[in-house]
Amino acid sequence: MSKFFAIVPAAGSGSRMGSQMPKQYLSLAGKPMLWYALSALLAVPAIETVTVVLAPDDTCWQDFDWSGFGPRLQVLRVGGATRAASVTQALEALKDSIGDEEWVLVHDAARACLLPEQVEALIATLKDDPVGGLLAVPVADTLKRADSVGRVADTISREAMWQAQTPQMFRYGLLLRALTATGGVTDEAGAVEALGMPPRLVAGDITNFKVTYPQDIALAEMLLRARSV
Ligand code: CTP
Ligand code: MG
Repeated sequence: MSKFFAIVPAAGSGSRMGSQMPKQYLSLAGKPMLWYALSALLAVPAIETVTVVLAPDDTCWQDFDWSGFGPRLQVLRVGGATRAASVTQALEALKDSIGDEEWVLVHDAARACLLPEQVEALIATLKDDPVGGLLAVPVADTLKRADSVGRVADTISREAMWQAQTPQMFRYGLLLRALTATGGVTDEAGAVEALGMPPRLVAGDITNFKVTYPQDIALAEMLLRARSV
């Protein structure tokens, strides 16, 4: 049976958060944001290792004690200018550790509210899939396209529309080939789609949202605190 490996790109600066410290290290309910994504992935026994991808000039990682996670947590300082570059460079660095047919789950450090059950469901649904896929949620709201002055230019049907989340799960060989062949994609699925292969959408839920703006911190803390009581 194929093995499962996780990669957590954490080399961004968090420009939309607007904080001094890169957002993956901001405090969420008393722990650095990144801690939660690592914890959820490491709680899944099927996952062999979780590799966190830091910027080469990261100075924050060393300020925290990560030893409680044990040897399944690995660190690579190979982050790049974009999320896709960070993931691609991590995959290249792991080429002797992961076979072409093994599964790689890529998860944003900023999705701190991921639950191990959501990862288990993704793995269970996709483990025999020919392409792979991603956690996602059907769009619930009506979608509006804005014009340049903040008025509605038009309304887009939400029918068949999904919001992409992470983890996104693809076989190592396909994922590296897809990311190397395509530029400008914002997620792994986008790269695989560009090769003409349709990733499977696996229904997750909105609690796995990406902490992006300052106001998202309070929402994430509410969820995390509610779970720990
Ligand atoms: N990421 C990365 N390398 C980059 C850019 C982003 O590893 N060059 C990571 C982020 O650290 C984050 C994930 O990709 O865990 C999702 O990105 P996002 O939420 O957009 O984070 P940032 O890019 O840091 O934030 P922003 O887009 O607001 O600058
Ligand atoms: Mg970004």
